[in-house]
Amino acid sequence: MPVLYDRLLKLKEMFNSKFGSIPKFYVRAPGRVNIIGEHIDYCGYSVLPMAVEQDVLIAVEPVKTYALQLANTNPLYPDFSTSANNIQIDKTKPLWHNYFLCGLKGIQEHFGLSNLTGMNCLVDGNIPPSSGLSSSSALVCCAGLVTLTVLGRNLSKVELAEICAKSERYIGTEGGGMDQSISFLAEEGTAKLIEFSPLRATDVKLPSGAVFVIANSCVEMNKAATSHFNIRVMECRLAAKIPFLCGGLQTGCWNSGVCHLCILFGELLAKYKSLQWDKVLRLEEVQAKLGISLEEMLLVTEDALHPEPYNPEEICRCLGISLEELRTQILSPNTQDVLIFKLYQRAKHVYSEAARVLQFKKICEEAPENMVQLLGELMNQSHMSCRDMYECSCPELDQLVDICRKFGAQGSRLTGAGWGGCTVSIVPADKLPSFLANVHKAYYQRSDGSLAPEKQSLFATKPGGGALVFLEA
Ligand code: GLA
Repeated sequence: MPVLYDRLLKLKEMFNSKFGSIPKFYVRAPGRVNIIGEHIDYCGYSVLPMAVEQDVLIAVEPVKTYALQLANTNPLYPDFSTSANNIQIDKTKPLWHNYFLCGLKGIQEHFGLSNLTGMNCLVDGNIPPSSGLSSSSALVCCAGLVTLTVLGRNLSKVELAEICAKSERYIGTEGGGMDQSISFLAEEGTAKLIEFSPLRATDVKLPSGAVFVIANSCVEMNKAATSHFNIRVMECRLAAKIPFLCGGLQTGCWNSGVCHLCILFGELLAKYKSLQWDKVLRLEEVQAKLGISLEEMLLVTEDALHPEPYNPEEICRCLGISLEELRTQILSPNTQDVLIFKLYQRAKHVYSEAARVLQFKKICEEAPENMVQLLGELMNQSHMSCRDMYECSCPELDQLVDICRKFGAQGSRLTGAGWGGCTVSIVPADKLPSFLANVHKAYYQRSDGSLAPEKQSLFATKPGGGALVFLEA
């Protein structure tokens, strides 16, 4: 805690010189690294993240007016002020203060308040931005807890996580709830299996003989600034509907109706038809309603979806809707003009990744002798699936995971949304010093021989604690 204490003191001084007063309280919310379970939370499947030590820290002073004044210790993020009873979130630009406003608006709406008291806030973050370590959700969560504290109200951590997951969508991205859940529910010393509907977190004891290492590819990816992320969410949404309305299943039994699969498919089709397809939004709901295993869902996907991409016309034909209905009822504003939807590949990633999360947890519980190797294999498979089926990697991330494996990682994968950002690797504890030295040299050394200055780029991490309020520094 001495580092945090020093940061709090420094923040207090900066607050004083900015606003001419002393903060009344401080809130911290951590970033996270997702160990396994990528791009499946918004499909309803469990994920396995842990909080990192890096966080967002906010010094706060409630004021008697409606003025909300935000400042940031990082000069790259300009001051912002508005009236706390007229919160407008601009979806067109993911500006830093909009994430604060998301958290604030979520709490405001939860309590049905039209007027909020104002506040002065100084924000200090040390999570590398756009790196897949969830700096934006940490800010949303921190702002949610700040607002709750200013109001003098109480909510459980689960309620806070659910509110913040929902309110971050004001920024325009259709994220799941992983980042906000771990930011509130994390506990020092343990990773968590986060399950949804209902939201809950269970401890997962990581192997003592291994260390998790984060490496930044230094390719920045802000998921709110492009449509990559939302396209995947839409593809998963469509993959939950199409197989049963248009896929091979509709033609009935193609194996004379005698094999196990044909009988299974026939039953599934009947069941699925009794569901209201327009109500089925997530892949997990489809599986739960059909009552079959993830492995069976993979078989269904292979037979019922075709690997060739779907175009909007085919999708409309399958669903029996117009292009206009597809756009207004299913697609998000920033995916209206997408021409290609890879439903087969996305669904296969989701079901296989969901299964890997459960296997990872089981291995951690059973702790076999070769557990580090087994966990590493699952992480490697996860990366392959993200790269080939979900197409959310990039050449730099692929190169970085190769380097990490070459220098001793048992497994290495991209973490977070992808398309840039960080990797996470599982490294046997005795190999850590040589691993860090070699990876540093291999990935961060520039052509002139000097090392990239980013000291935050490659580091071992341990499961950290969740969001907190401090009353004084
Ligand atoms: C982002 C989202 C999460 C999750 C990950 C990918 O971090 O905010 O909800 O979907 O991407 O696993």
